[in-house]
Formats: sequence, C-alpha cells, structure tokens
Amino acid sequence: MEKKRILTGDRPTGRLHLGHYVGSLKNRVALQDDYECYFLVADLHMLTTQPQKEYIDALRENIYEMVLDYLSLGIDPKKSTIYLQSVIHAVYEMNLFFEMLVTLPRVARLPSIKDMARAANMTDEAIPFGLIGYPVLQSADILMPRAHVVPVGKDNEAHVEVTREIARRFNAYYGDVFPIPELLMGDVPTLVGTDGQAKMSKSLDNAIFLSDDEKTVEKKVRGMYTDPNRVRADIPGTVEGNPVFIYHDAFNPNVDEVEDLKIRYRQGRVGDVEVKDKLARALNVFLDPIRHRRAHFAAQSGYIEQVIYEGTLKTQALAHETLVAMKKAMGFSGVWNRISRKARDRMKRQEKEAQ
Ligand code: TRP
Repeated sequence: MEKKRILTGDRPTGRLHLGHYVGSLKNRVALQDDYECYFLVADLHMLTTQPQKEYIDALRENIYEMVLDYLSLGIDPKKSTIYLQSVIHAVYEMNLFFEMLVTLPRVARLPSIKDMARAANMTDEAIPFGLIGYPVLQSADILMPRAHVVPVGKDNEAHVEVTREIARRFNAYYGDVFPIPELLMGDVPTLVGTDGQAKMSKSLDNAIFLSDDEKTVEKKVRGMYTDPNRVRADIPGTVEGNPVFIYHDAFNPNVDEVEDLKIRYRQGRVGDVEVKDKLARALNVFLDPIRHRRAHFAAQSGYIEQVIYEGTLKTQALAHETLVAMKKAMGFSGVWNRISRKARDRMKRQEKEAQ
C-alpha cells in the first residue's frame, strides 16, 4: 500500500526554537518512516510580512540555518523531501485557483493574520493583500502534494481548517482530486516563552534555540520567569502555568525528578535555583545530540544546498502533476488546447494555400 503524505514547513526567518519543536518538529521526526514527507522552506510566506530587501538578502543564511536545524533534529533527506517554496511555480497557479474558492471575510477575520501583522508592527490598515492571502497560499502548499496530514502548532490550526474547506469545495465543484488533510498538533500546541509570555517567539526575544550552546541555555534558564509571588524558597509556589515546570514536563524525561520538584515547590521546600539547574541540565541533555549532528553536517560544504536542490527538483515534478490533474478536473486545460489546435490547423492550411 502506498504511504500517506505529510506536508508542513516553516518561514525562513531565523533559527528554530523549542516552541517549533514541541508544536511540530517532534512529530515530523517521529513520522518520517510511516509517511512520505514534504517539508517546505516557506520563503514566499516570509514576504507576506517582510517584503523588504534586507529580509531577502538574509534568506540565504536563514534558509541554510533552518535546514541545518532540520537535519540536526534527525530529519533524514533520504526519507523526507525538503524543498524551497518559491521555486515551485505550479503552486503560484494553484494559489490563484484556490483564491476563487474562499471568501474574503473568511480569511480577513482570522486572528492569526492579525497576530502576524502585530508581530511585524503593522496596523490593521497596513496589512497587505498578500498577508490576507496567507492561508490560501498555505492551502496551495498543502494540496500540492495532496497531503493527508499537516503537523503544525496552534498558530497554524485555522489555516489548515481553511485548506480543508478549499479542498472540499474544489472536490464538490470539479470532482475528487484532493484528500481532505488532517491537522496534527504537537503535545504542546503553544509553548510559553522564557519570560512567561504566552508564546515563545524570536521576535519577542524569549526563545531557547535548538542551536543555543550549553552556557547560553544555562543563562536563559537562570533568567526564566517563575511564580512571581514566591520571593523566598520557603514560600509555597504554584506549579500550574509556571514556565519552568511546563518546560520540565515537555523536556525532562526523568518523571520522578519532576514529580519530586513539584511536590517540594508546592510545599516551599525547594529553591528556584535547584529547579532551574535541573531544567538546564535536562535541556542540555536533550540538545546535545542535536548540537553534535549540527556540527557534523555544517562541516560538509555544499551538503545542505544539495539536499534543498534535489528535494526541490523532485517536488517540481510532483507539483506539475497535481496542477495538470487539477486543470483537467476543472476542464480548464481543454480551453487553451482547443484554441491552439484550431489555430495551428488554420495556420497549416494557410501555409499550404500560400505554396
Ligand atoms: N505557516 C507556516 C509558519 O508559520 C509556514 C507554512 C507555509 C506552512 N506553508 C505551509 C506550514 C504549509 C504547514 C503547511 O511558518
């Protein structure tokens, strides 16, 4: 039986962090044996909030770092396909067809669009047309390989819902071309930042990156936000919603240690320093093999580029196939075919008559 397909990816705006890991990356690594996986570097989506030249100039470096992060996590290019979105021209065409299958208010109202605008310091009036189209372009990405499963974090949930609606509408109008893709959210759909803000994000400067070294992780953990009411170690503290314990639950595999810390924290019998030291140690144990693989791949000149190159060429062929199937289902390819056939026939006749 053929394997089902996965599609997901990230905007190349910088290095990946722990929030990306628990929201989506962990699932990708776990599922790459059971699914045919496509991971895109969404450089077109980056343009929706960062179209200026300075961001385009930073792409080379950011794409390199991001794909290096992928491989360091254990995404294996022999099993999974990594590709550059902007090279797949068929997706631009699909995007346009899908724009006809969704209403403007459906996408314009999405909180995720407003959130991205706010993160980019845009007022609502400054939101570009292309940012409102973000979920439609994302739908084109997902439907391009006719994906069955989309592993993403919470901020992408609504976009997968839009994709499902577009796929259903396409199938209803033109016949069954697309499977209706399923959302797959990680164990921690949104990870809190080190500063206690709801979301870990590079732009909020509250992230621990997969590529941070040991000392940096220790420093960031030491500065983490905990229970603000607990000014001394002998005051009982709150574990629920406390970032330090959320990270312990997500990254410390020693469940007994975490349970013991929680009990003593609630009773006021443990200092923040011990809780944080143990967290930093657990995070570094988790990140160490990732760092080793990072150094290994970074030492091979041209390797990352080759992975992207080969993956992109493979994806181009697949995207073309889907586009042809789409247009055929729509009866749209036939229009131009008939026009060109009639035109060529006439031109041939005229040639003959002139002889
Ligand atoms: N929206 C994703 C992000 O937040 C990037 C992305 C673009 C994506 N196309 C996708 C994710 C398709 C999943 C599927 O960076």
